[in-house]
Amino acid sequence: MLETKIEAATRNPDWQAYLVPENWSRFMPVDHATWDRLFDRQVKLLHDDVVSIFIDGLKKLGMTEPGIPRLERLSDRLEHLTGWRLVSVEGIVPDPEFFAMLRDRRFPIGNFIRDGKNLDYLEEPDCFHDIFGHVPVLAHQPMADLMEALGRLGVEACANGHGDLISRLYWHTVEFGLAKEDGRTKIWGAGLASSFGEAKFSLEADVPRPRFTPEAASLTPYRSDRFQPLYFVSDSVEEASRMLNELTDAKLAVLGAGEAPSYAPLDGQPA
Ligand SMILES: [Fe+2]
Repeated sequence: MLETKIEAATRNPDWQAYLVPENWSRFMPVDHATWDRLFDRQVKLLHDDVVSIFIDGLKKLGMTEPGIPRLERLSDRLEHLTGWRLVSVEGIVPDPEFFAMLRDRRFPIGNFIRDGKNLDYLEEPDCFHDIFGHVPVLAHQPMADLMEALGRLGVEACANGHGDLISRLYWHTVEFGLAKEDGRTKIWGAGLASSFGEAKFSLEADVPRPRFTPEAASLTPYRSDRFQPLYFVSDSVEEASRMLNELTDAKLAVLGAGEAPSYAPLDGQPA
């Protein structure tokens, strides 16, 4: 009986327990000014080095309006396009609950913004990273479907002890992935799209940029404490989505038994 209960809990994590009020009215003019500075700086920096679905999403969702967006309004626009809604959280959500949110087409948004005096210092993802980095691409149907598929797979993988494999796949695509478009390598991941320092670094630094495959990415550790030592490049967002959509937890387990590619970073702690 006890085992059945644990089984049910791990396969159906209670993500609603992590929701908090958005408290949008708590944001002061200085906070909205911080958002505007970050937004303008990042749009100029990315220019056409970011995948076109990102710029399209900013426009389709009306995200060029000044000030920190209200989640309700942005969710209404997003839900109309792809069925996704945004929910307010205090900070990082544990993996099982995070993936359960994605499975249910909910994306968590931190209900705070960084200190405007230090634009590039971030202890954990704030609403600029979460909204600016992640939301535009959620307006693109293949990406919206991919995120839900990763959510389903993530819940299953966490319950079966494969959480590290799905986390790496998520990290190397949705957060720090690059993708080919019109013959050029462009920024795709939210961690890159929302970072002033790492956006250009990912495209220009002398680091490996291997072709993305689920096999390689699931076995390659990542770093959460510094810029990535390598960036996977997908043939296209749609192609990466197709590959990841075909994955099941059983296939993930097989991938996990493989050997890490030789370009895997050897320094530091594996993720
Ligand atoms: Fe993120």
